[in-house]
Order: sequence, then structure tokens, then C-alpha cells
Amino acid sequence: MSPDFVNLFLIGYRGAGKSGVGQLLAQRLGWHFIDADLLLERTHGKSIGAIFAEEGEASFRDKEEAILISLRELRNCVVATGGGVVLRESNRRRLRALGKVVWLMADVDTISQRLKNDLSNAQRRPDLTVGGITEIQENIAMREPLYQDCADVVVSTTGESIQGVVENLLQILDARFGQKGME
Ligand code: S3P
Repeated sequence: MSPDFVNLFLIGYRGAGKSGVGQLLAQRLGWHFIDADLLLERTHGKSIGAIFAEEGEASFRDKEEAILISLRELRNCVVATGGGVVLRESNRRRLRALGKVVWLMADVDTISQRLKNDLSNAQRRPDLTVGGITEIQENIAMREPLYQDCADVVVSTTGESIQGVVENLLQILDARFGQKGME
């Protein structure tokens, strides 16, 4: 049985586990892993923090959209996207067209704790509004319908190990789309 998808896109808020889950998932599928934020930083030779500080968020969002467009020929890739990629309707349409979309969720306290533990946070995740837990709460409330709008599969990572999430996801993907044909 062949799967009816050619790529997997992981969406979800900062700290939801997209990069860790994406790397292991790609390994398990024998696919490539792409971190869209890392690709953006390498393409422009600057950290996301520097882009926000020097050019502003709108410029970052344009670059983020351009990176997504540049991925349109991809096949057999797991892509971890930036948490705000769903803000543009054009991006949500593109994600749906390019593969299956997996929304990784986590509760606010878990996200807050993971972001505090992540030393690369300041450069990769500049504050979007007021920072801290209030920013997380407000942004998640605002973005949830947007994540929902393009998600084919929704998985919680709260209290789960990366391995646990990946095993769960592989079972769901197999049941729904027959991913085992690619292993
Ligand atoms: C952002 C999330 C970040 C990065 C940028 C903006 C957001 O990616 O794209 O700082 O708007 O939530 P991660 O979700 O990988 O942290």
C-alpha cells in the first residue's frame, strides 16, 4: 500500500516539539528532515532574532513565505515549520497542497517550561508581543483556529517523550494514509 501523501509538515506553537519529533519521524520513515526556520536563517545569513530586530516581523513573514514556496518540489520530506507560518492564508493553502499536515499541540505550562529550558530561545524566538506566559496564552488562543484550519492530524505532546509522540504518529499515519508502504 502506498501512502497518499508525499511530504509531512509539522505545525504548532513554539515549543510544541516540531524539530525533535520531525527529526525522529524522518529517520523512522527514511525521509529527509528540513527545519524551515534553520533553512531561512542559512538562506539569509542571519538569525531570526536579528531579522526581527533589524527588519521587523513583516519582513520575517515575507521570508518565511518565500521559504515555503521554495519547498514546492519536495518529495519524501518531513518539514518542521515556524510556529507562525499559519498566520498567512496563502501559507495554509500551500501546506495543504504540499503534503499532509500534522499539528503538534501542548498545553501552555508545558510550552512555557520548554521555552525556558531552550538556550537558543532568544535568537530563534524573539518576543512577538509582551513575552512570557501571557504572550503564549494569547497567541495560542488566536492561532488555534488557524492550526485547525490546515491540520490533517492533531497530536498532543504534553507529557510525552519524542519517541512516544513519533510511535503514536506513525500508527495514526499508517491507519489513515498507509505510510508503511514507504518504510
Ligand atoms: C515564531 C516561531 C518560531 C520562529 C519565529 C516566529 C512564531 O519558530 O519562526 O520566531 O511566530 O511563533 P518555532 O515555532 O520553531 O519556535
